[in-house]
Amino acid sequence: MIRILMVCLGNICRSPLAEGILKSKTFLKKVEVDSAGTGDYHIGGLPDKRSISIAKEYNIDITDQRARQFSVVDFDNFDIIYAMDTSNYKNILRIARNTDDKKKVRLILNEVFPDENLDVPDPYAGGKHGFATVYIMLEQACEIIANKF
Ligand code: 4NP
Repeated sequence: MIRILMVCLGNICRSPLAEGILKSKTFLKKVEVDSAGTGDYHIGGLPDKRSISIAKEYNIDITDQRARQFSVVDFDNFDIIYAMDTSNYKNILRIARNTDDKKKVRLILNEVFPDENLDVPDPYAGGKHGFATVYIMLEQACEIIANKF
């Protein structure tokens, strides 16, 4: 069993989509997927309604998810930790206890664009990078991730 954790800031927009998409692609495989946020603003909350809506367009239901905060025990409970952007990445590494913890952390878009260190843009405040764009980026990354297992 490989255990994968998707991490963003609020755990209501990007990482719930990443969790839902990867789960949909790995449901017959020995892969466990969860998500968390580095921030504590939305603990216990549903995914953002715009994430629920775009996922539903692709027949993925993410309404069973509730936001939780990333914590140091996640380094013990997961094999790979995917950060959605460089800010999340730095915040996760700041909590890491040792090099084994650090080795688990990756930027998710490096699966699609190796070594480019690109961010999945934070769609929360709106703007030109909307939820549809985020969805497509995560779909591409999760397709590559799912094919590894
Ligand atoms: P997420 O988006 O990190 O993709 O879940 C955000 C959600 C909430 C906030 C920021 C980003 N916030 O500041 O409350």
